[in-house]
Amino acid sequence: MSQDSKAWGGRFLEATDAFVEAYTASVAFDQRLYPFDIQGSVAHANMLASVGILTDDERKSIVGGLEQIQQEITDGEFVWSVSREDVHMNIESRLVEIIGDTGKKLHTGRSRNDQVATDMRLYLRDAIDQLLEQEQQLLNAILDKAAEHTDTIMPGFTHLQAAQPITFGHHLLCWFEMLKRDRDRLLDCRKRVNVLPLGSAALAGTTFPIDRQMVATELGFAEVSENSLDAVSDRDFIIEFCAVASMTMGHFSRWSEELVLWMSQQFSFIDLPDRFCTGSSIMPQKKNPDVPELIRGKSARVTGSLITLLTLMKGQPLAYNKDNQEDKEPLFDALDTLRDTLTALNGLIPAIEARADNMRKAAAAGFTTATDLADYLVRLGIPFRDAHEVVGQTVAFAIRENRALDELTLPELQQFCQLIDEEVFDILTLEGSVAARNHFGATAPVQVTAAIARSRARIQ
Ligand code: ARG
Repeated sequence: MSQDSKAWGGRFLEATDAFVEAYTASVAFDQRLYPFDIQGSVAHANMLASVGILTDDERKSIVGGLEQIQQEITDGEFVWSVSREDVHMNIESRLVEIIGDTGKKLHTGRSRNDQVATDMRLYLRDAIDQLLEQEQQLLNAILDKAAEHTDTIMPGFTHLQAAQPITFGHHLLCWFEMLKRDRDRLLDCRKRVNVLPLGSAALAGTTFPIDRQMVATELGFAEVSENSLDAVSDRDFIIEFCAVASMTMGHFSRWSEELVLWMSQQFSFIDLPDRFCTGSSIMPQKKNPDVPELIRGKSARVTGSLITLLTLMKGQPLAYNKDNQEDKEPLFDALDTLRDTLTALNGLIPAIEARADNMRKAAAAGFTTATDLADYLVRLGIPFRDAHEVVGQTVAFAIRENRALDELTLPELQQFCQLIDEEVFDILTLEGSVAARNHFGATAPVQVTAAIARSRARIQ
């Protein structure tokens, strides 16, 4: 393509080097912005007509041309051209081909700098709205699964050592809280995305009497950007999204690590249906939890996007620099990864089959009711630190005897503290242990049931 057919070709005396053309082009990855580029252009044209910069016939012609382009793209007939560099110039050049010189008036009072910032905000806002839906669905799925397991007993862990008995429902509600905060962060991030940059033009604003509020209203933006330099150079709305997405994926990675552990022969706490697992090409017996493993793995690329974007922005002087074109691939990759991961989890979570017998067995091993015994001694009047010591000696004895605490006899227990009586055997049971943790936020089945009811209301 000759230079005079480039939108900016006027001042150039020789053609762009072919490699440079390819190196600087973004159309391969920014074409997915097209519905929002068109939407922004329609709003811009409507505004230009309303303030008298375009006639209504020109406006109609431009809008008609843009609608045709939208159709061509969705029909797969649109020819994307690298020499037209990016999504914006591909669409604008095609508009001129379709409607002639009137198409050249669309860019009045606008720059690609405010155009691309607008497209990115529209694109991200739309993607966030879809993610919010998926997260809402997942939060409900967790509550449903927790409701099935309000009194399913499992070991709670610290240092990956069985620590105290908990209910599986309580464990799942922990996941709920993590994701609930992630979703709240996403909602909050959306507020800073939902600001209109258009009208900032290249960096300083425009000499035309534009009506930015009209454009904001048409595009559904809650605010108009305050500062034109900021509007074209700021990408922290993208960094913020990637930070939220990284944290969300980090949470999913932790869940996945648990699912992988629980699927192992050593734990055998859960089973996942075959449709979520894959086999080994050499070991016929294997059923691998590939989906959770990949979720754990894919969290790395989202964190990678965040680091890429933080690094991309940190050395840039104001205002727009071409560096900013590098914001797209990390954002799109983070968005796609989070979306697909949510799709996977929305299938996976409802399909978890708890193996309650194995969970219970694991909770019974490892002296997990030792704290209950210490608390019981405190209720008999023994200071907690002394009670801790007594129970420590009791556990050491039980280890030597190779028996659980509730398998010791009363006289054996009384060797360590004379005050112990028959009631001790109620508090040493797993059911007694979880039921005794009966306050707001704790693991007792009645508390888990109440927390599920509260949480349903919290996500309405
Ligand atoms: N493709 C560019 C980007 O993604 C569009 C803005 C180009 N502006 C410019 N002055 N070269 O950032």
